[in-house]
Amino acid sequence: MSNARQYPNAVELNHTVVHARDRGLSAEFLAVVLGLEVGAPFGPFLPVDLGNGVTLDYYAMTDEPIQPQHYAFLVPEERFEGMIARLEAVGVTYYADPHHTEPGRINRLFGGRGAYFADPDGHNMEIMTRPYVRP
Ligand SMILES: [Fe+2]
Repeated sequence: MSNARQYPNAVELNHTVVHARDRGLSAEFLAVVLGLEVGAPFGPFLPVDLGNGVTLDYYAMTDEPIQPQHYAFLVPEERFEGMIARLEAVGVTYYADPHHTEPGRINRLFGGRGAYFADPDGHNMEIMTRPYVRP
């Protein structure tokens, strides 16, 4: 469901482009970890629909270095364990902190659970079950 119903006056993020050396590899990696599907190619983009009206469009960037970005996903509490299990299954280390100094641990920020991991291109991915509480 779109956030539009909950926040009728909101401007919603609809899609963004994620640079990858191999768009198929990186899109599949995220989809597997989060329990999502890779969509059909849309021109140069390979979409991963997050199920909330937002699409990540993976785009192959092969002619210049990829600048790592940070992508944070608010995930259902009951799906968090499965995501951690799939990271372990594919041999990707997760961390409790954004600087990746606490391997194999999750955090308990804001009364939820969270973890960080790198995708195949070094993008710093975050999963969390509670949103940040901002002042
Ligand atoms: Fe974050």
